[in-house]
Amino acid sequence: MSPLPTEAATRGVAVAIEDVSKHFGPVRAVDGVTLSVRAGEFLSLVGPSGSGKTTLLMMIAGFDEPTGGRFVVGGRDITHVPPHKRDIGMVFQKYALFPHLTAAQNIAFPLRMRGVSRAERDRRARLALDMVKLPDHADRFPAQLSGGQQQRVALARALVFDPQVILMDEPLGALDKKLRQQMQLEIKELQQRLGATVIFVTHDQEEALTMSDRVAVMSEGRVEQVGSPRALYEGPDSVFVADFLGNMNFFRGRLDHATGEGCRISVGGIGMAAQPAAGAVAQPGSPVQVAVRPERLMVSREEAGTAGIPGRIRQQVFNGASLTVVIDIADGTTVQAAADARSAVAELRPGDRVAVGWSAVDAHVFADGLP
Ligand SMILES: Nc1ncnc2c1ncn2[C@@H]1O[C@H](COP(=O)(O)OP(=O)(O)OP(=O)(O)O)[C@@H](O)[C@H]1O
Ligand SMILES: [Mg+2]
Repeated sequence: MSPLPTEAATRGVAVAIEDVSKHFGPVRAVDGVTLSVRAGEFLSLVGPSGSGKTTLLMMIAGFDEPTGGRFVVGGRDITHVPPHKRDIGMVFQKYALFPHLTAAQNIAFPLRMRGVSRAERDRRARLALDMVKLPDHADRFPAQLSGGQQQRVALARALVFDPQVILMDEPLGALDKKLRQQMQLEIKELQQRLGATVIFVTHDQEEALTMSDRVAVMSEGRVEQVGSPRALYEGPDSVFVADFLGNMNFFRGRLDHATGEGCRISVGGIGMAAQPAAGAVAQPGSPVQVAVRPERLMVSREEAGTAGIPGRIRQQVFNGASLTVVIDIADGTTVQAAADARSAVAELRPGDRVAVGWSAVDAHVFADGLP
């Protein structure tokens, strides 16, 4: 494909994934992924089960060969370099500790692979144990450690040889919520202290949004969209991304016309202002979907002359900080609004007629390809 990038082009880029594919027979596990990860960046890969996250990570680490494309790490093409010569640490989806080795021996393993002397291995394994807050567990075997402790050992093993890049495949998936949140903070702190470049796979969208500098959303082996958590949350490019990250309401409607920046649509015959999502091109008159976050949906009691889409309150759910109001729209769609528990919305009761609306900037319009 393209020639090796010049020195200037690679500066600041820790990992360049260039048009990488992996096919298992007819399955395109990874299908032409191109992505650059900057030095010191924390990038998360999210996506449904089977979207190719683990396959991509295993190829970056060198445990699997791509069918096509290449990886450039620190300016060096490593596509055909064996794993222990890649300068990449990896924490696997399952901890993958050696059961017959102690914590310290597990951590020292990558150093052994790299021919580091015994004394130096011991010294660095101890430092790594300190770093993950397990200084007194050096001689325990994995079976004698809790899930969280095993995960810390796996993390120490990935860090011990001071790699340029650390890959983590759902490292916190097996932990309970509280421990997971604690480890999220610890990993983030460690990453910032070391200035490490991290590619982090998670199922948990909230984890991705809180930990990452950027998030890449994968679907069927491809990267659908990549951007800062905020950019993805507030400006999804596709229905898939809009639906995948966070809660989202979808209204079905028709495009009336595009006006300068925004557009006019009608939902159940009611005209509304909205924003075409990036890349969404639709002809006037064509069906569209409008995506609006629950916290951006405005609900008011329907009175004569109230603007908005008519609906009826189905249910109200109080969840501490806010109130979720479930509303049935005339066309059979059900939407949710998140409201302040002390606002006027809290006074509404099931069966009450309401009008639903939004600010144009909060409504993302997509061409509706579905029947
Ligand atoms: N060794 C293999 N042989 C055949 N198919 C495979 C192999 N490894 C993965 N696949 C397929 O490739 C696709 C991507 O799998 P992958 O494990 O990368 O998904 P994932 O995004 O990590 O999913 P999860 O979130 O469930 O971990 C799936 O359809 C999977 O069945
Ligand atoms: Mg996986």
